[in-house]
Amino acid sequence: MKIAIIGTGFAGRTLAAGMAERGHEVVMGTRDVAQTSVRTESDRMGNIGFAPWALGQPTVRLTTFAEAAVGVDVVVNATAGHASIAALTEVGAINLAGKVLWDLANPLDFAHGFPPALFVKDTDSLAEQIQCAFPDTKVVKALNTMIGDLFVNPKIVAEGDHSVFVSGDDPDAKSVVTDLLTSVGWTDIIDLGALGSARATEMLVQIRLRMMSVLGTPIFNFKIAR
Ligand SMILES: NC(=O)c1ccc[n+]([C@@H]2O[C@H](COP(=O)([O-])OP(=O)(O)OC[C@H]3O[C@@H](n4cnc5c(N)ncnc54)[C@H](OP(=O)(O)O)[C@@H]3O)[C@@H](O)[C@H]2O)c1
Repeated sequence: MKIAIIGTGFAGRTLAAGMAERGHEVVMGTRDVAQTSVRTESDRMGNIGFAPWALGQPTVRLTTFAEAAVGVDVVVNATAGHASIAALTEVGAINLAGKVLWDLANPLDFAHGFPPALFVKDTDSLAEQIQCAFPDTKVVKALNTMIGDLFVNPKIVAEGDHSVFVSGDDPDAKSVVTDLLTSVGWTDIIDLGALGSARATEMLVQIRLRMMSVLGTPIFNFKIAR
């Protein structure tokens, strides 16, 4: 598959590397290619900068937001939640039309420090706002409920015996995302139903961030025990 990952932070990079490793053709989108390609500074979680990471990913191409989604099958939104609509607007409604848009962003608002608030919740979600802004795309929410380290390596926690949620209005688009999740080792993939269920998974970030403080590590996940 041809996959465009919009966003060059830890989340986008982790998914990009995992998908490239499994033989997909991966392109990443950023605001300023020249600036991002020489970025060496680590992020606030201590993850290495884009430039040293890219040295180990020769098959992943970096381009502009506007060019990234041209001719791909799946587009992933891995941008900061507050910037997602603006970034996707640069990607272009025409380039998103008819495509699966896999959204893994969270609507975090750091205006009052840590833990962040959510700038949308309860009666709406970032996923639904994206769907509303780009009605011709098929938005699927998944992977926003865990740290990026687990995205393509679920087995690093409890041998993968834990859960990932999928929300979306289009069954075929959800199947595409579910198949990609299966291909990287996910087994407990829970279809939560329509995209409105992303309100719930986006709000899970609040307990996740508090668990991170309690456990002293972000390497854990939710397991729905039946
Ligand atoms: N980090 C994780 O483990 C994790 C796990 C689950 C979900 N998420 C979610 O995934 C998303 C990405 O997280 P992240 O940690 O990888 O990095 P991030 O710092 O939240 O976002 C980085 C990306 O957002 C873009 N961006 C930031 N401000 C922008 C603006 N004003 N206009 C356009 N684009 C802008 C950046 O573009 P440039 O490339 O141009 O700099 C970059 O690609 C977030 O929504 C986060 O909540 C993250």
